[in-house]
Amino acid sequence: MSKRHPKKHTVGATRVETAHVILPGHTNPMGTLFGGVLVQWIDGVAAIAATRHARGVVVTASMDRLHFLRPVHAEDFVIIRAEVTYSARTSMEVEVWVEAENRWTGERAATTHALLTFVALDEQGKPRPVPRLATETAFERERFAQAARRHRARLRERQALARQWQA
Ligand SMILES: CC(C)(COP(=O)(O)OP(=O)(O)OC[C@H]1O[C@@H](n2cnc3c(N)ncnc32)[C@H](O)[C@@H]1OP(=O)(O)O)[C@@H](O)C(=O)NCCC(=O)NCCS
Repeated sequence: MSKRHPKKHTVGATRVETAHVILPGHTNPMGTLFGGVLVQWIDGVAAIAATRHARGVVVTASMDRLHFLRPVHAEDFVIIRAEVTYSARTSMEVEVWVEAENRWTGERAATTHALLTFVALDEQGKPRPVPRLATETAFERERFAQAARRHRARLRERQALARQWQA
């Protein structure tokens, strides 16, 4: 199997890397990247990874662990990498890493890390089953197991939130 066509349903088959240029409309009053713009880019790139696994429509169900570790300067390139870490019945977890690349030196610095959950939908807009993610390395298997625990925790969180709002 060539590198261009990784095996179906593997983590590698979902991997995405994009590069973004910061334009004047993307900055905050400090002249650095506005967090909301970065969140939109993260969501879009993560959705590509999830779609590669589901090969159908996906929607964002949740975003967690979104940390902005350092500001991104206007002249930096923004590099976003994403891959699916876990599949449950109809949902998938996607891990995202963001780096700021100094366009003059090529130096990269870690900026943001995020975990997002996407749900695959059928033509009626109802959750539909996704293939099980195939893990190929010990790291991927361990991360899959950790993500399974996060999946259960999110479900509990969501149920607690629903109860709060009904009360
Ligand atoms: C996400 C959504 C489709 C779930 O639909 P639902 O009818 O509540 O579905 P279910 O309760 O059967 O859950 C379906 C799956 O979603 C997961 N899920 C639902 N809400 C979730 C949340 N807040 N965080 C993480 N996972 C969630 C469930 O764990 C379940 O996963 P599994 O089948 O892999 O175990 C629905 O809540 C929705 O449409 N939300 C809005 C999505 C949206 O508009 N996103 C922004 C634009 S893309």
